[in-house]
Amino acid sequence: MALVAPLRLPARALRAGISYRGGSGARRARLAAAPAQTRHRATADGSVAPGEDATAASSTATAADAPPTPKPPHVDGRRSYSDVPTGLEDSPTRRLVTEEQLASFRASIANELLLAPLTKGGNLPFRRLCVDFGCNVTVSEMVFARFLLRRNPVEKARLRRHPSEKLFGVQLATNQIVEGVNAAALAADAGADFIDLNCGCPIHETWKRGLGAALLKKPKKLERLVRGIADGTRLPLTVKIRLGAGGSEAPARQLAEAVENAGAAAVIIHGRTKEQRYTRAANWDLIGEIQRERGIPVVGNGDILTHYEHRDRLARSGAHAAMTGRGALIKPWIFKEVAEGVEWAPTPEERVEVYLRLCSYFKEHFFTDEMGRGRYLEFMPWHFGFFCRYRPLPEDTYGAMASEHPLLQTRLGIVAAAEQASGADLPRMERLLRCESEEAHVRLSEALWDADGSLDKALELFETIANDGSLERWEAEAAASDRDNGMGGGDAIRG
Ligand SMILES: Cc1cc2nc3c(=O)[nH]c(=O)nc-3n(C[C@H](O)[C@H](O)[C@H](O)COP(=O)(O)O)c2cc1C
Repeated sequence: MALVAPLRLPARALRAGISYRGGSGARRARLAAAPAQTRHRATADGSVAPGEDATAASSTATAADAPPTPKPPHVDGRRSYSDVPTGLEDSPTRRLVTEEQLASFRASIANELLLAPLTKGGNLPFRRLCVDFGCNVTVSEMVFARFLLRRNPVEKARLRRHPSEKLFGVQLATNQIVEGVNAAALAADAGADFIDLNCGCPIHETWKRGLGAALLKKPKKLERLVRGIADGTRLPLTVKIRLGAGGSEAPARQLAEAVENAGAAAVIIHGRTKEQRYTRAANWDLIGEIQRERGIPVVGNGDILTHYEHRDRLARSGAHAAMTGRGALIKPWIFKEVAEGVEWAPTPEERVEVYLRLCSYFKEHFFTDEMGRGRYLEFMPWHFGFFCRYRPLPEDTYGAMASEHPLLQTRLGIVAAAEQASGADLPRMERLLRCESEEAHVRLSEALWDADGSLDKALELFETIANDGSLERWEAEAAASDRDNGMGGGDAIRG
């Protein structure tokens, strides 16, 4: 009997895709229940903290936000940030970054596949794994500039870079020039090679503060902000936008023009509007049109899951480079495939080896005591929520589909449906790795931890899990949850 689990809406990955800093409700609850000491130490040791911590920190900081004396209104109409530490200078009026720096930065990203900024997913151990697979350009998780300037340990931890990262950017969320300049200075001191300004984050907490995608509403204001930060920053500044906020893709051209006029080193375009979230295929035709209109490099972003999509979308659009988010989360070896121009299609055993390596990087990062294990378990099961969506997509079979069904999740859904229809029995290990159950993801993460770096041990533990009777239950629960959600088709996946 065919036991291929239908590719369904992974609610956790969905939330992760839409709410950058979210995790599962259960995990959020566990985190909230974690002893204060755990949270403190987890950030104080420089580890990458989960979004929930950042959100908590954000709300505390907001409560203490009211300045004692009125200040002139700023871009978003709120009061100025009264607590920018003294000793940090106002934005200077002349450009600090040199033309040579800009040219060298632009040359070093040309034709590359960049790793997208990914809150939670773009933690240091995961970025390190991507670098192992040939990723040359990495970006930090989004850093709230305001909280960084308050020396919030969660935000500070996000500046940390691994020595293996070749070209590392720090992504800032801000709508204030002085704040952006000063936060960029801290990022530069911490070793960043470039700064990226987040102008695409759609989530409510960011939007309501006038940050992220809210900056797309007024191109002239965006231009002033980008100019101010670009002028006052000694590193190249990239600006990551969506096509617009408000449903229409029309603002994209004007926004890219504003970014260029303001002196940015490059514009990164996630080819969807804020409202489209992940429901529409990224508009690479528009990305291409914008590249032809602009004098600065355009980095295209959206729906790249295979080496041939990277190749074809760059060729068709003429974009300077491309960026992938979910493609890397699902298969961190996408960078190797792009470098070699062929699909890798790792066996289940080879994938376990990759996941074991990530586990070892988490161990190095968080340490191997109980506290480190707890921190690791906040991340690794979350990663399995993406890993379980991996399917081989050989170009001769699926190349045409990449243009017919450019939306990443539609393609994965079609592949899963075809597998199911074929009725082929999959090995239990493969079924286990595809299992979407959160419980399974925790069990697999624990097994990797317990394997102590031994692949043989990890495979043995995985085999035990695959054969202890849980797999059928997990698959049945996943199928039932599909029915309850009225989901089950490929288009259902929106993460
Ligand atoms: C889990 C997750 C976290 C994300 N976090 C950020 C972020 O912090 N900053 C940002 O600019 N975009 C963020 N994004 C959006 C991605 O950078 C990227 O623009 C988007 O996923 C489209 O690319 P893709 O189709 O290759 O996934 C996030 C996306 C996901 C799935």
